[in-house]
Amino acid sequence: MSIHIGIMGAGAIGVYVGGRLAAKGEAEVMLIGRKPLADAIAEHGLTLREFDHEDRVDADKARIDEDVRALSSCEVVFCCVKSGATEETAKILAGVLEPGTVVVSLQNGIRNPEILCAALPNNPVVPAVVSFNVIIREGAVFQRTTSGPLIVESRPGGQDQRWVDALRAAGVEVDEVRPLASEQWTKLLLNLNNAVGALSGAPTRDMILSRGYRRVIAKLLDEALDVLDGAGIRPAKFRGVPLRVMSFIMKLPTPVVRLVIRAQLRVDPEARVSMWTDLERGRPTEVDVLNGEIVRVAGEHGGAAPINRRIAELVHEAERAGAGSPNMSPETLLRALEDD
Ligand SMILES: NC(=O)c1ccc[n+]([C@@H]2O[C@H](COP(=O)([O-])OP(=O)(O)OC[C@H]3O[C@@H](n4cnc5c(N)ncnc54)[C@H](OP(=O)(O)O)[C@@H]3O)[C@@H](O)[C@H]2O)c1
Repeated sequence: MSIHIGIMGAGAIGVYVGGRLAAKGEAEVMLIGRKPLADAIAEHGLTLREFDHEDRVDADKARIDEDVRALSSCEVVFCCVKSGATEETAKILAGVLEPGTVVVSLQNGIRNPEILCAALPNNPVVPAVVSFNVIIREGAVFQRTTSGPLIVESRPGGQDQRWVDALRAAGVEVDEVRPLASEQWTKLLLNLNNAVGALSGAPTRDMILSRGYRRVIAKLLDEALDVLDGAGIRPAKFRGVPLRVMSFIMKLPTPVVRLVIRAQLRVDPEARVSMWTDLERGRPTEVDVLNGEIVRVAGEHGGAAPINRRIAELVHEAERAGAGSPNMSPETLLRALEDD
């Protein structure tokens, strides 16, 4: 019998993962989201675009419902809302889920699983890290723009998780580790560059291939690594590379970085960080659970993280201005960060 999987927050990640499951018929998928996307999928069907091919999913297999009660029959629910919506979403889920329904957080940031756990005492909550990116294009096209697995926390004793099997059978690369915390911190450290992508307006690939923007990213990363060291937090290596080495590589000349990226990571030339999309659409960003988390940890250990604090302020200024990305050059951004 196929497993019932719910997607709470059908956006870039939720529709991509839910769509993958639905495409292969590996699960009965219930997507909860907003009407504009529901209409787009109803009109065009769903397209899942990969680096080298695309898959079409019929509209009736990827229908988005607005009524969250549809999740009550699910055995597993993937929480795919932005971090700012987790608390409200947790309360909504508490009102509809059966005890025992597994809730998997596919969100960035460290604290979402805790928030879900607190509101859902009768549901096992599993943290996960999505290490690839997805963008939404016109016509209900969901395009994966970077490579990487879904990393999930394995269950104590290595018991099977049926939904993990379903994901793998649907072609999603899944790594299982326990505990997940060091992977979550690594993802957070890598996401510190989202603020740079948002403020620069540069596609991810151009940002990484710009020595000036890399200098900014390395400053954010170095400061964050010092903060985590002070707090006794040990992030995992990223694809075998310690994050201190990543920071060192960031400071090298661009041709060397180009070679390293080619060996390590596929990035679509059009990929942009989702924080840029948030600014462009006038939506709140997740900067407070990324750079803001570093500031918080620093504060808890009697230190400070002025560069991460300042870049979070710049993102908030851009949110308030409501005019999209301020398209800051590397020089302007560096000056603004040193302007304290
Ligand atoms: N996009 C990526 O490539 C990527 C990669 C790795 C991790 N992540 C993480 O995954 C999480 C989701 O990101 P995303 O980019 O997929 O966000 P997204 O595109 O904004 O998707 C979330 C969707 O959930 C909807 N939603 C929120 N509350 C809802 C409710 N109560 N009922 C129905 N729909 C609701 C949102 O609608 P409204 O906007 O109208 O509220 C939005 O359409 C974030 O934590 C992000 O950091 C994303």
